[in-house]
Amino acid sequence: MELSHKKRPGATNWFFIFLLLSTNLLTLLFSTTFYSSCSRSPWIAVPEATVTVSYQPTGRSAVTGSLNGASDDDLAPEFKAFTSGQLLAFGVNPNFDSDTMYPPVGRPCTMFPDLLRRFMTYKVNGSCPDDELLAQKLLLKGCEPLPRRRCRHASPRDYVEPYPLPTSLWTTPSDSSVVWTAYTCKNYDCLINRKHRQQGFDDCKDCFDLAGAEKNRWTAAKSNGGLDFTIDEVLATKKPGTIRIGLDIGGGVATFAIRMRDRNITIVTTSMNLNGPFNNFIAARGVMPLYISISQRLPFFDNTLDIVHSMHVLSNWIPTTLLHFLMFDIYRVLRPGGLFWLDHFFCVGEQLEHVYTPLIDSIGFNKIKWVVGRKLDRGPELQEMYLSALLEKPLKNSW
Ligand SMILES: *[C@@H]1O[C@H](CO)[C@@H](O)[C@H](O)[C@H]1NC(C)=O
Ligand SMILES: *[C@@H]1O[C@H](CO)[C@@H](O)[C@H](O)[C@H]1NC(C)=O
Repeated sequence: MELSHKKRPGATNWFFIFLLLSTNLLTLLFSTTFYSSCSRSPWIAVPEATVTVSYQPTGRSAVTGSLNGASDDDLAPEFKAFTSGQLLAFGVNPNFDSDTMYPPVGRPCTMFPDLLRRFMTYKVNGSCPDDELLAQKLLLKGCEPLPRRRCRHASPRDYVEPYPLPTSLWTTPSDSSVVWTAYTCKNYDCLINRKHRQQGFDDCKDCFDLAGAEKNRWTAAKSNGGLDFTIDEVLATKKPGTIRIGLDIGGGVATFAIRMRDRNITIVTTSMNLNGPFNNFIAARGVMPLYISISQRLPFFDNTLDIVHSMHVLSNWIPTTLLHFLMFDIYRVLRPGGLFWLDHFFCVGEQLEHVYTPLIDSIGFNKIKWVVGRKLDRGPELQEMYLSALLEKPLKNSW
């Protein structure tokens, strides 16, 4: 995987990158046909504290932090240009308590100097390389946020503007609204039909088919052992109108946000682009995509959101410590009285009892609903379980 940053990677290299991604990222995100692996996925391991970033907060001249993990020579000039401390034009700013700004990048960025150098090597003021896959790989490794770049990102050759609302909500967008380089499929027809035509696993494999399973999610209570709550029964637990804004973590093609929009509730949907243009698709439908991984601190202030939802994503593939931090972060951004709808969390039975129930209990939510059922799609012998829970941040004494 040593690719020279000087020459454009050839098709073979892209193929290897794709292979690597598609084999390593199998267990991520939001699928109803989730072929879960109850082992820990290696790729999202919490970066060990081997990198120290030491900046001098009051340096007078432009300062480059000493970033262990890559020697200074390994870092592209544009990376240094972006991350170097920059003096504020008007001197010390009392809000910053400093006269220097240090633009942020994920601390692990410099642990992957080759990828980082390739990402940050481009023509300033020119067009960026068409390198979405490289960028996402770097981000998923922990280089989040990615550094900004001074180039124009690839856009489709014959871009077609989105359908107007409300048509856009349930209409497949034009193929010409997407740069397809990073994906196996090169058009929406391929994505819509991949559940029939393609072997193997893809995240959210059937999500792009808006006439398929997406159509009835969260609207009709199926039996399914009570695991499938409907949006209306969840909203009915609160005073009418008090759930107004929220977040869906790993929300696939944002059908949850669209159902909530029907109820005048604004939902932001986080998604990666794992072998499909999820972010473009969400935006084309007319709701808000947010391109952050599950590792990143949620970009919302404390006590602000009315609801956080997540289906199939928060599960036992996430290292337990990371999950613990994540759950506390969800608690943080929810306002008192806010709801956390943990939708189809899955793991093996023993883990639920010994690991996850105590972990969730430790956060401090009130339990409004707590339904455990068996997950049988991969066979009963695996002893897999689903948990669907509706949790509430206490209205009083929630700190
Ligand atoms: C890019 O544009 C800026 C602003 O015009 C200019 O100062 C800079 O020299 C340009 N850099 C290159 C490498 O062309
Ligand atoms: C949503 O808001 C619109 C405009 O304010 C209103 O007419 C409509 O009844 C609301 N819909 C729901 C489900 O509350």
